[in-house]
Amino acid sequence: MAQPWWKSSVAYQIYPRSFCDSNGDGVGDLPGITSKLDYLRTLGIDVVWLSPIYQSPNDDGGYDISDYRAIAPEYGSMADFDQMLAQMHQRGIRLMMDLMVNHTSDEHPWFTEACKSKDNPYRNYYIWRAPAADGGPPNNWEAAFSGSAWEFHAPTGEYYLHMFSKKQPELYWENALVRAEVHALMRFWLDKGVDGFRMDVINMVSKTYAADGSLPNAPVVRPGFLQPAFTLVTNGPRLVEYLQEMRREVLDHYDTITVGEAPCATLRQGVEITHPETGALGMLFQFEHMDLDSVPGHGEGKWALQKLQLGDLKTSLSRWQDGLAGRGWNSLYLSNHDQPRPVSRFGDDGVHRVASAKMLATLLHGMQGTPYVYQGEELGMTNKPYASVDDCYDLESRNMFRTATQERGIDPEVALQAIRTKGRDNARTPMQWNASAHAGFTTGTPWQPVNPNYPAVHSEAALADADSVFHYYRALIALRKAHSVLVDGRYKLLLAEHPEIYAYLRALGKKRWLVVCNFYGGTPVLDVPYRAAQRVIGNYPETGVGLQNMVLRPYEAAIFRLE
Ligand code: GLC
Ligand code: CA
Repeated sequence: MAQPWWKSSVAYQIYPRSFCDSNGDGVGDLPGITSKLDYLRTLGIDVVWLSPIYQSPNDDGGYDISDYRAIAPEYGSMADFDQMLAQMHQRGIRLMMDLMVNHTSDEHPWFTEACKSKDNPYRNYYIWRAPAADGGPPNNWEAAFSGSAWEFHAPTGEYYLHMFSKKQPELYWENALVRAEVHALMRFWLDKGVDGFRMDVINMVSKTYAADGSLPNAPVVRPGFLQPAFTLVTNGPRLVEYLQEMRREVLDHYDTITVGEAPCATLRQGVEITHPETGALGMLFQFEHMDLDSVPGHGEGKWALQKLQLGDLKTSLSRWQDGLAGRGWNSLYLSNHDQPRPVSRFGDDGVHRVASAKMLATLLHGMQGTPYVYQGEELGMTNKPYASVDDCYDLESRNMFRTATQERGIDPEVALQAIRTKGRDNARTPMQWNASAHAGFTTGTPWQPVNPNYPAVHSEAALADADSVFHYYRALIALRKAHSVLVDGRYKLLLAEHPEIYAYLRALGKKRWLVVCNFYGGTPVLDVPYRAAQRVIGNYPETGVGLQNMVLRPYEAAIFRLE
């Protein structure tokens, strides 16, 4: 059987609110996206993953849907959508929609119905529980966006579960009607011609209920407060069954690209879910490498900062590279709308911004899997310079700051520093198109300010500069198209213990390619027993001295074809 097309593809994520505003209302929109498709074609990507554009009260950047079949008016009309899709297809770009079916908005008609009475037919679309004996929430779970994961609904006297904001009630997937609704809405979009889905927190849809139907307390890691509970709601006993059913009912009838967002996913689940014959989905977004710069098991979760150890990154990425080889497929990402900018997080967003952005791109695009580029990553866009908590537009950061400082006694400076490092607005400042006002994102006032570095960092400058981060990404993407060793070659970690260099081989038949990344600003000597036939790509001018005892320059990265 021929290999699925998406294995040699490169995807590009668009966060519509911040991509391009066509009508001056300060909010990015669908005609704005359509107007930039030639830019994406120049970059060479094959697939767009479009973050939600559905009707939504917008409590969580559109990840709270009130109508799965309608376009949010601020993004345009269904005609604008059809036009965008047709224009994408005309350019050979496929479209992957965001599918959020672990929860809906509390303004979705299903939920409005469910609230009407305990015996409403839609009641059982959501997860309701009686109050605890003291009238409080049924258990000690904290929601991802702070506060209890349970919200009391006074008129009917029960609590509903929401693992994110209280405006995002969790759907009850044990109810077959819920699953049938999901299948139907997937078919709606696939029949319109979309090419697949990125599935929001898909491994949370099956929960682990006790025999009596209760949801047990989470272990106490933060005495006296609510407890993180994600490990209890991910990878439940019926997850694989539900995904297999979705495959049978829907996915098998279309040619799709699918990627499931899967916090807390283990390698074993990765194999089970993405196995080429028996798996239900194409890929997962696993989070292991995103968690390495947080203190493991800490009650403050992702906000408990620790310095990334290069050794941990090598171990984690290599385990997934080796573990899925021939038995599954990796998604490759360093960045998305929930994560800080990679050049600020893993590289140097000061003097070595350009070199380190290219180094990180080399590291990722050299691996086996389907690479994802998040808008602006191809320009080396950097984190947002938050002056205070008032610069937060994202409810996750705002809520964390409030509860951490007011309830848990955390120093406001510490909380703000955590937001500067990990806050989601880092990735959500508007796309930087040119040096005109608001970076050319809008002619009006942007919904959140552009990064003040836009006069130096924008796409117009990048397109005009052959040495830009943009052209380096373009070259890497083209390389994957031209050389199957980058798609199919086996990965082998080298220099596992080296404190500064991340190096690995890709091997396919007689072909061997070497990927070398100097992860820091020093000048380590590369010591590998190989001879290069050719340097295929690199982020510094070639010296011509070959591989033997090559002294790497700060953040130098290169790929060599070996003899
Ligand atoms: C996913 C999305 C994130 C959203 C959350 C709740 O993690 O990527 O943006 O807040 O799900 O829908
Ligand atoms: Ca607009």
